[in-house]
Formats: sequence, C-alpha cells, structure tokens
Amino acid sequence: METFLYEPYICSLQRIKYAYMMSKIIVVLFHILLYSELKPSNAQTWIKVGYWFSGSEFPISDINSALFTHLICAFADVNSSSYELSVSSTDEQYFSAFTNTVRQKNPSVNTLLSIAGGSANYTLLSNMVSKASYRKSFIDSSIKIARLYGFQGLDLCWVSANTSSDMTNTGLLFQEWRAAVNSEAKNSSKKELILTAAVQYSPDLDTVSFPVDSIRSNLNWVHVMAYDYHMPEWSEYTGAHAALYDPSSQVNTDYGIGAWIGKGLSASKLVLGLPFYGYAWTLKNPKDNAIGALATGPAISADGGAMSYKEIKNYVQRYRAAIMYNATYVVNYCTVRSSWIGFDDVEVVRIKVSYAREKKLLGYFVWQVPYDDNWVLSLAGNCQEGPHELDYFPFV
Ligand SMILES: *[C@@H]1O[C@H](CO)[C@@H](O)[C@H](O)[C@H]1NC(C)=O
Ligand SMILES: *[C@@H]1O[C@H](CO)[C@@H](O)[C@H](O)[C@H]1NC(C)=O
Ligand SMILES: *[C@@H]1O[C@H](CO)[C@@H](O)[C@H](O)[C@H]1NC(C)=O
Ligand SMILES: *[C@@H]1O[C@H](CO)[C@@H](O)[C@H](O)[C@H]1NC(C)=O
Ligand SMILES: *[C@@H]1O[C@H](CO)[C@@H](O)[C@H](O)[C@H]1NC(C)=O
Repeated sequence: METFLYEPYICSLQRIKYAYMMSKIIVVLFHILLYSELKPSNAQTWIKVGYWFSGSEFPISDINSALFTHLICAFADVNSSSYELSVSSTDEQYFSAFTNTVRQKNPSVNTLLSIAGGSANYTLLSNMVSKASYRKSFIDSSIKIARLYGFQGLDLCWVSANTSSDMTNTGLLFQEWRAAVNSEAKNSSKKELILTAAVQYSPDLDTVSFPVDSIRSNLNWVHVMAYDYHMPEWSEYTGAHAALYDPSSQVNTDYGIGAWIGKGLSASKLVLGLPFYGYAWTLKNPKDNAIGALATGPAISADGGAMSYKEIKNYVQRYRAAIMYNATYVVNYCTVRSSWIGFDDVEVVRIKVSYAREKKLLGYFVWQVPYDDNWVLSLAGNCQEGPHELDYFPFV
C-alpha cells in the first residue's frame, strides 16, 4: 500500500473493522473533505520530527517521510580555523540531495540541517560561541549552506555545553542568529529559516542553566532530549533510560518538562524526544531482573550497550523473550539469560505522545528514524491524534 494517504486516514484504518472498509471508503473520503473544510484555522500546530543521521548509512530514499512534518539531516561540523559551518566531502552528496529526496514521498515535509551532535569537539564549539566575530562566521556560513542545499531551517545540537559562559554565549548566538535569518529573509524575499536547538531534559544541569529567555525570543522550538537518564556504562542498576515518571527521583521526563515550563518557556516551544533505542545491561543475578536490579555493565560492547529498536525486536524474536511493561516508569523491558534490555515499545510511544498532547507541547521528535522496525513506532506516534480528528470517524 502506498503511504501518501491523508494522515488521520492512515491511523483510523487500523481501527476500522475490515468488513466495514470497502463500503465505508466513500464516506471516509467525504469526511476527510469535510474535515479539511471545517478544520479551525486556529487549530494548534502539531509537529512530528525525525532525525536522520548520516552515520546510520540508512538510505535517505527509504525514509517514510509521509509519517513526519519535519525531517532533520545530521550533522554538519564547524571548521576549527574559520568557525564556518562545514559539511564533510562524504556527507556533501547526501546532504545536498536530502530535501529533494524526502520530498518525493511527502512534498510538504520541511527539512532542517543539524549542527554538531554528540561527538562534536567541545572546545571548538565553546570557542566559536565565545567571540562575536566567530559567531558571525558561523551564522553567515550556516545560512548560506542551508540555502545552497535547500533546507528550511537549522538546528544546533551542542549537547556538551556545560559552563555558565557557554550558556550565556549560546544565548547571544541565538539572538544574533535570529537577527541574521530575519534580515536574510527580507533581503532575499524567501521564507525565514526555522531555528531550533537540542536541549537536555531539564533547563537546569548540575551547575548551569540553559539561556531560557534567549530560547524563548529567538528559537522556533527546542528538541528536549528526554532519554539517556540511566546507562549501563555509568549505572550499577538496570534503569528506565527514558522514564516518563520516577517516584523516587527528579531524573524523569515529566519533571524536566515541568521545569522547562516553570522557567518560563511556553509548552508550545517544547518538542518531546522519543528514543527509538534502548540499553542492554548484564545482570549480576539473572533471577533478579526487575527495574533497579544490580548490574555489571553493558551486555554488548558496542555503543555502551545501546541497541536500536530494530535490533531489540530481532533479538526478542530470536530468543522468544517476553516483553514486560512497567506503568510506574512507562517503559518496556525484557530479559534473555543474563541480559536485561530496557526500551520503548509501541505502547510507550503511544503514552508519551498522548502525554505531549495533554501538556500541549508542540509535538515530538524521534532519535532516530533509521532505528525503527518497519515503521511500527513512527506509525504509533502518528496514531495518537487529538480527539477532534476521531470525531470525524464515528464508525471506528
Ligand atoms: C577550514 O577553513 C580553512 C580556512 O577557510 C580552510 O583552508 C580549510 O580547508 C577548512 N577545513 C576544512 C576541513 O574544511
Ligand atoms: C578541538 O578543537 C580545538 C580548538 O579548535 C583544537 O585545538 C583541537 O585540536 C580539536 N580537537 C580535535 C580532537 O580535533
Ligand atoms: C565540559 O565538557 C567537556 C567535554 O565533555 C569536558 O572536557 C569539560 O571538562 C567539561 N567542563 C566542565 C566544567 O564540566
Ligand atoms: C541584508 O541587507 C542589508 C542591507 O543591504 C545588509 O546590511 C545585511 O547584511 C543583509 N543581510 C543578510 C543576512 O544578507
Ligand atoms: C515497576 O517496577 C518497580 C521496580 O521493580 C516496582 O516497584 C513497581 O511496582 C513496578 N510498577 C508496576 C506498575 O508494576
């Protein structure tokens, strides 16, 4: 089946009894027409963002872009002598074709170019934001590259910013970046570039805080990295690495979202991160396999025990492991011999997307699209539409 169908239709399909389908299809089309006519113009925007990382080697043309409103191409670097944005020669062929390629399956999808990422050079970025002339080189070149390759926006993913001067300087960068994209849009008569950043789950880190005021005035939204709370390399206990709730700790998504809003960032600028991966721990005692059981490190050596959802599902099927669900943390997990894997399955994605809707966030993002298994999680996110959409499908 092709996937260019109108999106509430895709979702409701799963709920329609099969026998109804053919006889009702005309009715559905009618309702979709009616729905688009009646859709109130002030309806809250809802975005569905997917990161694609070149390191995944997942073909861009295989991305099911119909399931997203925005796709982010990751990552561009910063040149260590000029502080200009740079794209490696191997990435250039992919990045320059990204937008046209993903628009073949969804002509209205918007694309952003993400900068830096987890393995970026901390010192270099800290230097870049520290001086007005370095920031200007960065900003002007980033706008040039975004336009050259046809991106509609730019995303800064500097995850290691960790001093108060880093944060203050990043606030200045956002301010100057906004002024520059604003003036470039006027000069070129093009639509203003979207500006976003990836941020930690909470605005307050151990000793420093994100520049919330500058984020509020200058960014379109932030990607809240609501994951990696517990990892096998650092924690001697199994844990829900992307716990929605945690009754015994503030390290959880609900706390972080509340803290961002409490610091004055509107919910409508927050985009909730969904990890399409989990972590595998080695249990100290395989019989003690609850959340919080003693563990002795990663169960697989690569990537600190991280496993993509696709790998986890293959593993679970191969060993016929039972997938458990824990509603206290909102997490799935399974045990195979002495390995314990905590991850987000379909039901967790549904609950988190409903949570984002209830809190009136702007939407969700996934890290990363290539980790999905046959689009199961991406579809689960899509199907958590607001109640208004379902009202138009009275027979489901
Ligand atoms: C960085 O910029 C300098 C000066 O513009 C240039 O000579 C050099 O080739 C660039 N390096 C990379 C890796 O792009
Ligand atoms: C990181 O950037 C700094 C400052 O530009 C540079 O001196 C250092 O060599 C870079 N480190 C690596 C590993 O490239
Ligand atoms: C900030 O992070 C960098 C890179 O991870 C690290 O080298 C540095 O020591 C950290 N600084 C502080 C003050 O934590
Ligand atoms: C836009 O045009 C003004 C006036 O010509 C110029 O000063 C400014 O640098 C331009 N901005 C950009 C981003 O090109
Ligand atoms: C979730 O796991 C914790 C730790 O084992 C346990 O205390 C709690 O009762 C579980 N929650 C549910 C709803 O089963």
